[in-house]
Amino acid sequence: MRILVTGGCGFIGSNFVRLLHQERPDAEIINLDLLTYAGNPANLVDLEGSARYRFVRGDIRNPEQVDALVEGSDALVHFAAESHVDRSTKRPGEFIETNVYGTYVLLDAVRRLAPRARFLQVGTDEVYGDVEFPSFPDENAVLLPSSPYSASKAGADLQVLAAHRTFGLDALISRCTNNYGPYQYPEKLIPLFIVNALENEALPLYDGGTQVRDWLFVEDHCRALLLLLERGSAGEIYNVGANQDPEVSNREITRLILELTGRPESLIRPVEGLRPGHDQRYAVGTQKLRALGWSPECDLVEGLRRTVAWYVERRDWWEPIRSGEYRAFYEQHYGQALGSGKAAAPKRAAKASNS
Ligand code: NAD
Ligand code: TYD
Repeated sequence: MRILVTGGCGFIGSNFVRLLHQERPDAEIINLDLLTYAGNPANLVDLEGSARYRFVRGDIRNPEQVDALVEGSDALVHFAAESHVDRSTKRPGEFIETNVYGTYVLLDAVRRLAPRARFLQVGTDEVYGDVEFPSFPDENAVLLPSSPYSASKAGADLQVLAAHRTFGLDALISRCTNNYGPYQYPEKLIPLFIVNALENEALPLYDGGTQVRDWLFVEDHCRALLLLLERGSAGEIYNVGANQDPEVSNREITRLILELTGRPESLIRPVEGLRPGHDQRYAVGTQKLRALGWSPECDLVEGLRRTVAWYVERRDWWEPIRSGEYRAFYEQHYGQALGSGKAAAPKRAAKASNS
């Protein structure tokens, strides 16, 4: 069984490759990753030397590179993407190229060269857009993406459905809520706030921090993906989520991170207007996946505890990241470096809070 994973050097992809390698000793895994700013070969250094794992640096937008790897594959699990909403509001074109066109290149190669291969598209709940409480969209809900990121992911999903219907590909889609856990690039809320707290730097909490996400520990997502790869039905969509009850706001996540890192609330820096179109709430109905026997194993407090412990332990992983491209993006995004919790507020930020 040869499984081609795209984007396996990113956050979720690397956690999935590790799980697959552990759980399926008959799987030969090929990891195609471009190593953009978000891809880090160090994420899978423990698999180097395994005869069942091979990393290939390449671009899903390059048909020649893709063809060579798709031929002979029994399954594809497609993670590779531009994945950060804030970046998508600045450079939307890159999201169309990677997430829409890149997915097309993969599907086209499968149609021509491996028409019986299973294709698992790793999608996001953000395609349903801003969801009003107490609604939990099921897989048939209308797509109303708000950001260039979620619009590009919706475009990818629709191509997958069309490839199943028109060309008979054995393709299916997962749509997961926000993940957190080890190896997440410190630009998303949870790893950014953990790392900034550890460094006594400001935590830029957007738009009052009242927004709600349905946080899922990455290993639970990866178990769901393995289940769908093996037991999901072709042409189907499966929502994946923790269904936190009660739902948890960004402010509450921030409070938990400060508690776990032992840092004061004065590090919180309210920021307004940096995320145009900011969605207030994401949530999904997950009955279809749960009917296959999946449920999350790690609750939010335990997951955050494990995640903070990992970032405390693995400074060697994140310290090198917090330079170069990372800092350049931050300086552009906030108008200047965010600085320490005690520094003056960044451009366009409201006054610092002590609450
Ligand atoms: P990530 O940004 O950490 O990793 C993306 C990976 O894709 C990187 O290793 C990068 O080098 C690679 N990549 C980017 N462009 C490429 C290209 N042209 N060719 C080959 N490789 C390329 O992302 P993530 O958070 O691990 O997300 C993985 C997937 O899961 C994405 O498709 C994302 O939309 C989806 N998803 C993420 C979340 C989340 O909370 N992070 C939730 C639901 C779904
Ligand atoms: P993020 O981790 O970027 O994931 P997504 O936008 O895909 O849900 O953001 C999660 C929430 O946290 C979102 O409401 C925006 C907010 N947020 C902040 O308040 N500050 C930050 O620095 C970041 C990155 C996000």
